[in-house]
Amino acid sequence: MTKQTQLLADKLKQDPRLAEAKRLILETVAEHQETIQSVRPANPDLVQSYEEMLEKFGTLRNGTLFFPYLSSGFGNGPFVELADGSVKLDMITGIGVHGYGHSHPLLVEAAIDTAVSDTVMQGNLQQNPESYRLTDLLVKTANESGADFKHCFLTTSGAMANENSLKIAFQKNHPANRVIAFSHCFAGRTLALAQVTDKAAYRVGLPDTIAVDYLPFFDHKDPQRSTEVAVNHLKYLVKRHPGKYAALWMELIQGEGGYYPGDKAFFEALITVAKENNICVIADEVQTFCRTTRPYAFQHFELDKLVDVVTIGKISQVCATLFTDEYKFKPGLISQTFTGSTMAINAANAIVGDLIEQGNFGPNGRNQQLHDYFVAGIKAVGQKYPGTIAGPHGMGGMVALTPFDGKPEDSKELACRLFDAGLMSFMAGGSPARVRFLMPIGCVTNDHLDQACQILERVIGEMAAERNA
Ligand SMILES: Cc1ncc(COP(=O)(O)O)c(C=O)c1O
Repeated sequence: MTKQTQLLADKLKQDPRLAEAKRLILETVAEHQETIQSVRPANPDLVQSYEEMLEKFGTLRNGTLFFPYLSSGFGNGPFVELADGSVKLDMITGIGVHGYGHSHPLLVEAAIDTAVSDTVMQGNLQQNPESYRLTDLLVKTANESGADFKHCFLTTSGAMANENSLKIAFQKNHPANRVIAFSHCFAGRTLALAQVTDKAAYRVGLPDTIAVDYLPFFDHKDPQRSTEVAVNHLKYLVKRHPGKYAALWMELIQGEGGYYPGDKAFFEALITVAKENNICVIADEVQTFCRTTRPYAFQHFELDKLVDVVTIGKISQVCATLFTDEYKFKPGLISQTFTGSTMAINAANAIVGDLIEQGNFGPNGRNQQLHDYFVAGIKAVGQKYPGTIAGPHGMGGMVALTPFDGKPEDSKELACRLFDAGLMSFMAGGSPARVRFLMPIGCVTNDHLDQACQILERVIGEMAAERNA
């Protein structure tokens, strides 16, 4: 009898009927995608039933959706068809999740592979090799330029990745029970993270869980002074609560706070004080992951040897907490029924691998090129209608503009009117309030960005005319 080494699963995957089915599905999807090349209004015949569905859904979920958005489940790159037949140009991508846009072949293929896999979800007792491959890829990628992450724990949301990171920091630095974070940071919405997130409205009615103190963030208009102020405040805090801080919580580019990038020297100065006081340095990259010139923003800011724990999410589909050996947790602290769906894990492997392969990273990689092109287009709109747009701001695949006077009403009005005109964006920050774009960096082209700027120009022009009337 010959020794059988080939897995039955591999035999199934290599079955020519499956290859043919895959080819047919991809070909069919691609053919249909040719019909979606630009935005279009809703189909009047579908509007009533669509609105009814939105209303009922709003009641069921205790709040209407911010945009009247229910996808039909089909799209082409950044274009997505909604269930009312309209087509939108998606430049917000689920606030950074749909980095390959809609119905992308890479993800269709991952979905077909998933369809013939044995389980929908993976977690605690039962996981598949793709979970191993992803954690290995994330750790190897993180360690490319000097970092020394040894561990990576997958999970299903940014909040859970962050929650896990806090637990890791608290356990290692017990009995320290406080956290230091930046003003205007967003960390998630669990009971603990609602305390870290610097927005009182998000913790109305919640009990205090952990004590958090805040540092002012970097001010690019006055780098030296803002660094001094933050460092002095950090020193003051650690003196006031000696041995009480478990973690320094850092978003390297503030996301929800309004797209404010930090600075290498600023972070280094703060981390020096943190390290002197045995405070765990956590980088929350749930929004920034894969959007700067490097896969991890801590690499972009050259903090490779300084970060102890990093969390990722959104574009990676499945979220993760990476940590050094020093922060290895004790058995029992972290475990989960769901560490991710098989589809999300397959998609994560495909997405991270493809972004690296297709050249999204590097000082002049696609992320930077797309950023420069989009920023130039937005600037041109601002020049055509003076006083309407300040900025743009942000970094790489994160772009924001301040409309008019930066009042929250202005940014809400612009985001809603852009949506009606076919372009999806969202608000960020509060004072000033901004409109942000998280473009689908895996598939967006200059032509798509031109179309986005044309819509922006039309809507900004209308708003300017109304304000000047
Ligand atoms: C920086 C940051 N951290 C954490 C989160 C929370 O992620 P999730 O919504 O997946 O729980 C977000 C989400 O916007 C985020 O931007």
